[in-house]
Amino acid sequence: MDEKILKHVKELREEIEKHNYHYYVMDNPLISDAEYDRLMRELIELEQRYPELITPDSPTQKVGGAVRDEFKKFVHPEPMLSLSNVYSETEFIEFYNRLARLIGVNKNFGMVVEPKYDGLAVELIYRDGIFEVGSTRGDGTTGEDVTENIRTIKSLPLNLRRSGKKGVKIPDELILRGEVIIYKEDFKKLNEKRLLDGEPLFANPRNAAAGSLKQLDSSITASRPLRIFIYSIVRPPDFIRTQWDFLNYARDLGFPVSVEATLIEKAYDVISFYNKMMEKRHNLKYDIDGIVIKVNEFEFQQLLGNIAKSPRWAVAFKFPPVQETTVVEDIIVQVGRTGALTPVAVLKPVRVGGVTVSRATLHNQDEINRLDIRIGDTVVVQRAGDVIPEIVKVILEKRREDVRKFNLPDKCPVCDTDVIKDIDEAVIRCPNEDCSARIVERIKHFVSRGAMNIEGLGEKIIERLVLDVKLVKDVTDLYSLTIDDLKKIEGFGDKSAQNILDSIEKSKKTTLKRFIYALGIRHVGENTASLISDYFKDIESLSSAGIDVLKKIPQIGDETANEIYSFFRNKKNMQTIKRLKEVGIEFEKVGLRVSDALSGMTFLITGTLVRFTRDEAKQLIVQNGGKVLSSVSKKLDYLIVGSDPGSKLKKAQEIGIKILSEEELIEMIKGRNGRLGI
Ligand code: IVH
Repeated sequence: MDEKILKHVKELREEIEKHNYHYYVMDNPLISDAEYDRLMRELIELEQRYPELITPDSPTQKVGGAVRDEFKKFVHPEPMLSLSNVYSETEFIEFYNRLARLIGVNKNFGMVVEPKYDGLAVELIYRDGIFEVGSTRGDGTTGEDVTENIRTIKSLPLNLRRSGKKGVKIPDELILRGEVIIYKEDFKKLNEKRLLDGEPLFANPRNAAAGSLKQLDSSITASRPLRIFIYSIVRPPDFIRTQWDFLNYARDLGFPVSVEATLIEKAYDVISFYNKMMEKRHNLKYDIDGIVIKVNEFEFQQLLGNIAKSPRWAVAFKFPPVQETTVVEDIIVQVGRTGALTPVAVLKPVRVGGVTVSRATLHNQDEINRLDIRIGDTVVVQRAGDVIPEIVKVILEKRREDVRKFNLPDKCPVCDTDVIKDIDEAVIRCPNEDCSARIVERIKHFVSRGAMNIEGLGEKIIERLVLDVKLVKDVTDLYSLTIDDLKKIEGFGDKSAQNILDSIEKSKKTTLKRFIYALGIRHVGENTASLISDYFKDIESLSSAGIDVLKKIPQIGDETANEIYSFFRNKKNMQTIKRLKEVGIEFEKVGLRVSDALSGMTFLITGTLVRFTRDEAKQLIVQNGGKVLSSVSKKLDYLIVGSDPGSKLKKAQEIGIKILSEEELIEMIKGRNGRLGI
């Protein structure tokens, strides 16, 4: 084996692990997704060419593949205990007093307080720094060997020599415990996708994490957004003597450890931490159902020991539940921007996790049928973070005789048009583009924060403009509003009207990303809009892009590509875009131009490239200030030639145009201090 290749593979792996760490553990990516994909692709290609180089700790092994009939049993080296719970300050103080008594009243001890993650406990065993076995808790003594599935978790280091800080000691055997979770926003996206694919929805992130970890086909696990947090160690090496040291050590080894964990000395600081976390929990990226308090010193933990199946040195201080029971007083139908009819339960108001809830989304008819929700039913509602409250289940024992079944109507409740059911979706839609509910929703979306960000133009004002004074039928109408128009709305004076006009004016300077998102193309959320705007230099090139080009945008699937394609083939949409440009909407090209290395030069590509797809190469040229032409002419400076070039090569040679290979293009960019990735 060529030494150079070995070295390169090693460097690539280190580089990829570094980016995994910054992306998944630090939440702070250093390079673009495209650049990351390129590194990964390079490693995959090398490993395909030299399969003998593949090791289980290679970052390429995070894609899964192993399919099995059942999981092997795995006996934990030490039992996985559970925690006893306290539910109030008084109960916590009792726990604390017991600790103080058992440790000795004149001895000081510390406490580490951590979030109590609402996920699945797992055990990870590393031998000589390499991830070897991952298992579920099971009954505490014996769990299931889910090594291949755990290996796919992106934030988990597989080789501690690569992930850890230099000089951190790595014991021969390291046994860690942690929690596998899914972030709330990833969960939402996962369920949205499942809804589109007609698959059953997961009830909450915890269930989704459990379902994903227990897949027999590890490539399914790999496709799920699992994460992990590490919180304890079994048989710690001598140089780690406290929980606090352990958490820092785990962090140094490159493991994800919660930044919320805190070292505390006083009981009342524990209570402040509890209150702080209770307030903060809805803003955390993951679900927690309480805090965990652990005696810091391992020596004292040893001394305290266990009672039955829980340690005496730790306790979970649980939050009050975020589920409550209430009654469904009615079911109403909302018409969304895309025409989707969403049934919404009107609830008898109830406090859930500190907030009064009076509505809950029912998603669609299938969901109503699945849960068999009827008007008048007593139900369990759940609120998790900022997400819209949901009904978890019906309490059948409390069902009265007079409950009424509900079915979505055949006609739009707002404009009376016959609804349509998409063939492959569970969704029923109002197809009328001019339905006033749809117009209101389109405008709400257009002005929203991630879109055109028109401040002060709230829901009520939009409704007035569309439904009452009827001055707005389309997003473009916003840009022709006058002070007098706005003053037709009750309660509006010169000043408030002017403020809105100023916000509207301000919104004209925007970014391509915001604009794409504002258009409200189905399946194109803020994330997707951002990916699209990285790929195209302007709205014209996006709107004329063919399906094949759209499909090449990273992370964009067939369905989304089709939606984008047909959006820009719709006359009315194109008319809207044209009018918006006429009123003076301009795009700041933020982040697009990365250098001027190719400034003033023109290029054309022919044949198949190796390192890039043709679109990537075009993007690269544009980002570095060059221009891509569509045919060979005297205006052309360089023709980039891949394998199997077309007739363009001959023509270019005839008129004496300079020919470059892909590598020469790269060298040219590098040589002029350009950049190969953003
Ligand atoms: S320590 C013996 N720390 O809670 C101590 N557990 O009821 C065991 N959990 O199965 C675990 N967050 O799944 C610990 N910061 C945390 C935790 C945590 C969540 C879960 C874990 C365990 C259960 C115990």
